[in-house]
Amino acid sequence: MEQEALKVKDVTVSFGKKVVLKNISFTVKEGEFWGIVGPNGGGKTTLLRTILGLIKPDTGFIEIYGLSPKEAVKKGYVGYLPQRLESFLPLSGREILSLVVKDEEKLEDLLDLVGMSHKGDVPFTKLSGGERQRILIAMVLAKNPKIFLLDEPNTGIDIVAQDAFYDLLRKIKRERNISLLMVSHDVGVIANFVDKIACLNRTLHYEGDPWKALNCQLLKELYGTDVSVFVHHPECKGCHVFRIS
Ligand SMILES: Nc1ncnc2c1ncn2[C@@H]1O[C@H](COP(=O)(O)OP(=O)(O)O)[C@@H](O)[C@H]1O
Ligand SMILES: [Mg+2]
Repeated sequence: MEQEALKVKDVTVSFGKKVVLKNISFTVKEGEFWGIVGPNGGGKTTLLRTILGLIKPDTGFIEIYGLSPKEAVKKGYVGYLPQRLESFLPLSGREILSLVVKDEEKLEDLLDLVGMSHKGDVPFTKLSGGERQRILIAMVLAKNPKIFLLDEPNTGIDIVAQDAFYDLLRKIKRERNISLLMVSHDVGVIANFVDKIACLNRTLHYEGDPWKALNCQLLKELYGTDVSVFVHHPECKGCHVFRIS
């Protein structure tokens, strides 16, 4: 039987009187790749912070391999790549990694996994946004998490680098059997790469098959009226645009 990695059950979170997440329930099985989409302010970051045990839900609960978020984080089960990566360390990727990985072979394996062996000695500040991110991903993976949460990691990365980035995430999932939960504003692109999509705007509007999430009625409900969705198909190297109004 497939193991449950993450269970979110009837979770409600509010800040003062404002209910930001309402009765959210879903279950991520071991090794699944989930995308979380929804409008700004829809509660995506709040959901990740709740899974990390930084916010205590008003009602409901979260379990990570049967443990509470705090216990799971303490055991190193949860990796997290935050939305903003501001770092101006004068160190190279290899030096940064050596701060958390003592074993040299393990360090080189990680650099290789994220495709950065050849640029390991370049100062972090000289790397592109996507390359910096790969070094940070290697740092997160150094702790061998079972679940990896990523908050809009593709913001500001061009579309070619973005495809390579998704390929990297799929490789990580395949080689390490890690469950991935990734927040993205780009429902049309993410549908190509993930196993499941959760559409979040205070409540969970949809969870399941990514392609079924690309449905006019659902997107209208989620984002309101008048949004254009760009659907990127790597195979036909083209984009469909459909407009919802
Ligand atoms: N610590 C906080 N205190 C008060 N309100 C917050 C806090 N964090 C988030 N919010 C509010 O909760 C809502 C959801 O925010 P967020 O989870 O960041 O959305 P998203 O990541 O989907 O853009 C927003 O209206 C935001 O202003
Ligand atoms: Mg956010």
